[in-house]
Amino acid sequence: MSLKFPVLASKGLTDAIGNTPLIRLHKLSNELGRNIWGKSEFQNPGGSVKDRAALYLVKDAEERGLIDPAKPNPTIVEGSAGNTAIGLAHIARARGYKSIFYMPNTQSITKVNLLKFLGAEVYPVPPCPVSDPLNYNNQARDHAAKLDNAAWTNQFDNQANWKAHYYTTGPEILAQLQEHGLDCDGFTCSTGTGGTFTGIARYLKEKTKGQCKLAPADPPGSVVYSYIKNGTMEREGSSFTEGIGQGRITDNLAPSMKIVDDAIFVPDADSITMVYRLLDEEGLYVGGTSGLNVAAACMMAKNLPKGSNVVTILCDSGHKYADKVFSKKWLQEKNLYEAIPEHLLKYVILK
Ligand SMILES: Cc1ncc(COP(=O)(O)O)c(C=O)c1O
Repeated sequence: MSLKFPVLASKGLTDAIGNTPLIRLHKLSNELGRNIWGKSEFQNPGGSVKDRAALYLVKDAEERGLIDPAKPNPTIVEGSAGNTAIGLAHIARARGYKSIFYMPNTQSITKVNLLKFLGAEVYPVPPCPVSDPLNYNNQARDHAAKLDNAAWTNQFDNQANWKAHYYTTGPEILAQLQEHGLDCDGFTCSTGTGGTFTGIARYLKEKTKGQCKLAPADPPGSVVYSYIKNGTMEREGSSFTEGIGQGRITDNLAPSMKIVDDAIFVPDADSITMVYRLLDEEGLYVGGTSGLNVAAACMMAKNLPKGSNVVTILCDSGHKYADKVFSKKWLQEKNLYEAIPEHLLKYVILK
C-alpha cells in the first residue's frame, strides 16, 4: 500500500483547505457501468465544501482593503445558516479576526453552539424574505456598515465565492482524473449560493473544450430546475436538505447559466435513500446534500455512454444532521420513512 502524505500546512489552517480526495463510489459505479466520483469536501478543516468559499471571501475582503489586519478589530460579518459561517469562523480565529453571524432562528442549537465555540458572535433572527430589511442577510450587511474595519462577505452575490471553485476545486478534479488517464464527462451538484456549481462548471467546460456535460441538481422548493428547463421561477414543496435550494438566480449562479446542458430534479425520497446507501455500500457518512448530489450523478450517468466519468460533491458529513436523518419519528413526520428500502432500515436507530 502506498501512502501519500499531504504537503505541510505551512500557512496554518488555511493551507489545509482543499486538495481533497476524489473517491470512486464503487458499488454504484459497478452497478451503472459508469464511474461515479465524489469529491470528498467533508475532509476540509471546517468540515464542508464551504471552507473554500470562506477563504476566498476573506482574502477578497483583505485585498479590497475592507478589512486591515494591522488595524484594531478586523471583523467578518455574514448571513449564514451553517457551513459558510463555520468556515469563516475557523478562518477568522486562525487570523485573529472577530466574526459575527446572522442566521434564521430555525437553525439547530448544535450549529449555533459550534459557532460560539469558535468565538463567533451569533444572532439568530426570525426568518423573513430577502425583500425585508430584517432578513438575516440584510441585517448582516447593515451590522458590518456600522463597524470600523469590518466586511460583510456577501456569499450569495460576491464573485469571489465561485472563483474559489474555479481556481481550486475544478482544477483538482480534472488533475485527479487525468492522473489516471480519465476524462471528465459530466458534473452535477446542487446549489445554495451557486458558487460551487458555477466555479467547477466553468472550469470543466473550458478545459474539456465543451465535452463535459453540466447540470445543476435541485431539491423540491427551489427555482433552479424550472429556470433552466423552461425559463420560469416555479417552485413547489420543500426539502429536508439544508444549505441548498434557491428562490432566485444569485450572482454566483448566473455566470454558469449559459453553459449548462440540463438540470436534474431530485425528490427527497431519492436523496435520503442515497444517504443510507452511501453509508451501507461505500462506508461514507454524509449529509443530505451529498445524498442528493450522488443521486443526481447517477441520473446523469445513465444518459452518458458506458465507462463515462461523472463527478459530484460530497459537501459535508452526516454529523450535523444525524439526530434527524436517523430518527424514525423525524422520517415519519417528513413522510420519508416509507422511502427507505427495507434492508437499510437497520440504520434508523433513533426512535
Ligand atoms: C451542506 C451544503 N451543501 C451544499 C451547499 C451549496 O453550496 P453553494 O453555496 O456553493 O451552492 C451548501 C451551502 O452552504 C451546504 O451547506
